[in-house]
Amino acid sequence: MVSSAACLFFFFFFFFFFFFFFFSRLITIYFFSPIAHARHPVTRAPDAGDGCVCKERDALLDFMRGVNDADNALASWQWEKDCCRWIGVTCSSNRIRMAGNVIRLELSEASLGGQVLQGRMSPSLASLEHLEYPDLSALVLPGINSSSPKFLGSMTNLRYLDLSGCLFSGNVPPLLSNLSKLEYLDLSFSTLSGRVPPELGNLTRLKHLDLGNMQHMYSADISWITHLRSLEYLDMSLVNLSMVAPGWPQVLNTIPSLEVLNLAKCTLPSTPQALAQLNLTKLVQLDLSSNRLGHPIQSCWFWNLMSIESLELSETFLHGPFPTALGSFTALQWLGFSDNGNAATMLVDMRDLYALESLCLGGSLSHGNIEDLVDRLPHGITRDKPAQEGNFTSLSYLDLSDNHLAGIIPSDIAYTIPSLCHLDLSGNNLTGPIPIIENSSLSELILRSNQLTGQIPKLDRKIEVMDISINLLSGPLPIDIGSPNLLALILSSNYLIGRIPESVCESQSMIIVDLSNNFLEGAFPKSFQMQRLIFLLLSHNSFSGKLPSFLRNSNLVNYVDLSWNKFSGTLPQWIGHMVNLHFLHLSHNMFYGHIPIKITNLKNLHYFSLAANNISGAIPQCLSKLTMMTGKHSTIIEIDWFHAYFDVVDGSLGRIFSVVTKHQEQQYGDSILDVVGIDLSLNSLTGGIPDEITSLKRLLSLNLSWNQLSGEIVEKIGAMNSLESLDLSRNKFSGEIPPSLANLTYLSYLDLSYNNLTGRIPQGSQLDTLYAENPHIYDGNNGLYGPPLQRNCLGSELPKNSSQIMSKNVSDELMFYFGLGSGFTVGLWVVFCVVLFKKSWRIALFRLFDRIHDKVYVFVAITWASIGREATTD
Ligand SMILES: *[C@@H]1O[C@H](CO)[C@@H](O)[C@H](O)[C@H]1NC(C)=O
Ligand SMILES: *[C@@H]1O[C@H](CO)[C@@H](O)[C@H](O)[C@H]1NC(C)=O
Ligand SMILES: *[C@@H]1O[C@H](CO)[C@@H](O)[C@H](O)[C@H]1NC(C)=O
Ligand SMILES: *[C@@H]1O[C@H](CO)[C@@H](O)[C@H](O)[C@H]1NC(C)=O
Ligand SMILES: *[C@@H]1O[C@H](CO)[C@@H](O)[C@H](O)[C@H]1NC(C)=O
Ligand SMILES: *[C@@H]1O[C@H](CO)[C@@H](O)[C@H](O)[C@H]1NC(C)=O
Repeated sequence: MVSSAACLFFFFFFFFFFFFFFFSRLITIYFFSPIAHARHPVTRAPDAGDGCVCKERDALLDFMRGVNDADNALASWQWEKDCCRWIGVTCSSNRIRMAGNVIRLELSEASLGGQVLQGRMSPSLASLEHLEYPDLSALVLPGINSSSPKFLGSMTNLRYLDLSGCLFSGNVPPLLSNLSKLEYLDLSFSTLSGRVPPELGNLTRLKHLDLGNMQHMYSADISWITHLRSLEYLDMSLVNLSMVAPGWPQVLNTIPSLEVLNLAKCTLPSTPQALAQLNLTKLVQLDLSSNRLGHPIQSCWFWNLMSIESLELSETFLHGPFPTALGSFTALQWLGFSDNGNAATMLVDMRDLYALESLCLGGSLSHGNIEDLVDRLPHGITRDKPAQEGNFTSLSYLDLSDNHLAGIIPSDIAYTIPSLCHLDLSGNNLTGPIPIIENSSLSELILRSNQLTGQIPKLDRKIEVMDISINLLSGPLPIDIGSPNLLALILSSNYLIGRIPESVCESQSMIIVDLSNNFLEGAFPKSFQMQRLIFLLLSHNSFSGKLPSFLRNSNLVNYVDLSWNKFSGTLPQWIGHMVNLHFLHLSHNMFYGHIPIKITNLKNLHYFSLAANNISGAIPQCLSKLTMMTGKHSTIIEIDWFHAYFDVVDGSLGRIFSVVTKHQEQQYGDSILDVVGIDLSLNSLTGGIPDEITSLKRLLSLNLSWNQLSGEIVEKIGAMNSLESLDLSRNKFSGEIPPSLANLTYLSYLDLSYNNLTGRIPQGSQLDTLYAENPHIYDGNNGLYGPPLQRNCLGSELPKNSSQIMSKNVSDELMFYFGLGSGFTVGLWVVFCVVLFKKSWRIALFRLFDRIHDKVYVFVAITWASIGREATTD
């Protein structure tokens, strides 16, 4: 009985105990971990370690409070209790400890899905004692007041610290040297400034040190680097090293582990000396560009580092011949040697550089022959020797532009270097024909500014960019242009004749067509379709026909220049559909009819010229819809496009836009974006200037001269306060000059001559200066008076300067006749009075008259008789 009672007791005890334990566990999970149960109700493993350490979570929450998380990138930090599950947070996966410690904090743009945080750096982060890897590179800390975080110095477990792009002010904190476990330190693009602290030399475990592209950093002594025995990556670009000792290569020579070294734009002192023994045997990437080293190339310190794969020496002004050692850099993939002042020569045999992918020598060689140079490049195939196994050339990018090279481009260049994609030989003295390019990889061929002759051959299918402008090419374009992949066809300033072949429009991806300055003619075929076109430049040819109708569907087109051709017909209303149009230059053609009203739909338009056509009718009213000119519209996105496409052709679209303003023809490149103007001069426009023109507040140049415009000049013209050039001459404007004209403080060119303007000229220092520079601005307006004219009011003149000489002559003439008249009157009265008062004189006078009368009568009678006789005998 006792034993069964004991059994029962024990049974109940165990049952109760088990029950209690089970429920208490369940209750804990359900009621105290609300978020966790939502995801894993009961099945959660009891030994997983419940979330993070409270202290660390509080520290993170404190950090979050200091951050302006506008896009809610840290949303999970609010609803999730376990901070180890928060976005950007990683905890140690230590199974022995119940809770994990935060070891990684990744708040970079990439790890936050493109979001950028703003705010201040909370010192509470220092409580994350186990943090090894904070990457706060997306944290934009509003500069000025936020000095770099002092507490970082106490986070001694850090192995990785990425503060790139942070907007700290102040110096690089020397206390970073406290972080003795640091292996990776990136401060690049941050706004820290001042001296590079030599204490960084304490970070002896550093493998990666990036101090590049920070503004206003300097270092006078870089010997601290010698302590960094494990350093593999060193970027100090833009740090001012002008004060370091000329022996700086020796300092670097003590770090044999170095693989990447970037000292671009450091104002490094010149060190024309070789090193006896080079330890940098692992170096693969060396960038010394934009340092004015200026010594012979041969005395560079690195010419026995055959391991180098990438060598960047642009803008170093190194000169003289390249050393033959270059020929044994068999690992070399990139050699950048551009813009070095044309004082170098390249006679090295580079045929063994099979790894070489890019060779950029633009603007660096003093002379050379293109055939010899190409011969010394690595070849894939040669005429006598087909490519051997493993000896394929990799050369794909070859830039030999602006190098004073002479000779004829080898006709088989694309065959012997079959890997070639980009070939730039522009700005040399090359002669002969364009090489034939067939079945090659070549996609960008840039031969601008040479003396190439002959005709344009059929292009290879792969060609995308073809720039052969400014040469002596002649003849017609090939009927079959050959490449359906063309993006840019730039043939300007040659002697090309004939029509545009229809095959051009097979290139559906065409972005740039520049055929200006040739002798091309004919109308555009109706079948033309180029829907991606951005630039259409055809000026100075003899093209005819209507405005090319393919433009109707090219709604991406930005820049259209058809000036100086023989286009005719009326301007269609669909012009208003080209909503991306920025620049429309149709001057010097034979267009007639009215300006289409729809043109005011072009809200991106910033320059528009119809000058020298035969346009009649009125100027459209709704000008305020041209929002690019009113300044109500920003086109940042389009401008990005613009630069992107300038890049497509590698900046080769030099100064291609020509615009007349301030009486001068000016050429523009990508600065055309700043030209805001309307030119309707030399047409037959009638009516007045619409009042709405005053809303064009960004307009710099307005030319309405040589039309039949009438009415008064818009009273509020002074509201167009950006105006620099205003030409209203040779019209029929009447009324007074609006006084607001004097408000145009930027005006540097004004012409109101030959109108019917009347009244007093408004005063204003700007107008007086303009008049002083050009005293003809009011000519031909007889009703104008007041200073600066010397006419005070109508009729009373003070002869003083040139414009008064004419009226002075007029008054002289008047005086002459006045004198003549008064003299005659006085003389007559004298004679009359004398005759009246003296009798004998009266008798004598009448006798004299009698005698004269008799003599005249006899003379007339005889003469008459003799004339009558002669008439009858005839
Ligand atoms: C640097 O680290 C030591 C411990 O190694 C610590 O005592 C000191 O406060 C730290 N310095 C700073 C500025 O945080
Ligand atoms: C850190 O570097 C400074 C200067 O280079 C030196 O004086 C200091 O003793 C170093 N500290 C440690 C802990 O190595
Ligand atoms: C670099 O520092 C030197 C000396 O302080 C100064 O003269 C020079 O202007 C600086 N160079 C640049 C590019 O800031
Ligand atoms: C590197 O080269 C220098 C001579 O330029 C030499 O003194 C030094 O011992 C070499 N080795 C190391 C590890 O610095
Ligand atoms: C200008 O156009 C009108 C018709 O609008 C026409 O009569 C005139 O001949 C044209 N003038 C010129 C020079 O083409
Ligand atoms: C206005 O246009 C006419 C004719 O096209 C030109 O001769 C003149 O120079 C232009 N005026 C200005 C200020 O550019």
